[in-house]
Amino acid sequence: MLQLFGWENRDKIVKVVLGADHAGYLLKESIKEYLSSKEIAFTDLGTFKEESVDYPEFAYKVGTTILKGEADMGILVCGTGIGMSISANKVKGVRAALVYNKETAELSRLHNNANVLCLGSRMTDEKDARIYVETWLSTSFEGGRHEKRLELISKLTGL
Ligand code: RB5
Repeated sequence: MLQLFGWENRDKIVKVVLGADHAGYLLKESIKEYLSSKEIAFTDLGTFKEESVDYPEFAYKVGTTILKGEADMGILVCGTGIGMSISANKVKGVRAALVYNKETAELSRLHNNANVLCLGSRMTDEKDARIYVETWLSTSFEGGRHEKRLELISKLTGL
């Protein structure tokens, strides 16, 4: 099993919640296969087909699921990842990061403690997406000087 966030001593099982629009649907399915192969628990909030839908709806569902404590981390996929990241970041307490290479996957955890990973299916292929997901899920927040910055972000949203 993938070692998540170095949390090998945690009694809690990390649960991931996923969402996508029509453009991100197929990449979401591929990410689900990857999560299953690593025995990582997940919930899929849709969409479940390639028929056109509106991405903010799925970003909201994923964000609120995390805030309710029903999942620890979220993964959102649309065509570019941009619409999903803009939308998810409107939900208080969500720190959504648009990731486009391994380094941004790692830094979004180390520095930003991102709790939602956004990917663009038209920008990122399946192989790279799996690398980004694995990197993201296995990297811990560094804390330290970054704590204060996250507190400042929280203040921006009135938290
Ligand atoms: C859908 O065509 C597309 O606009 C959407 O998936 C996303 O890329 C928006 O940011």
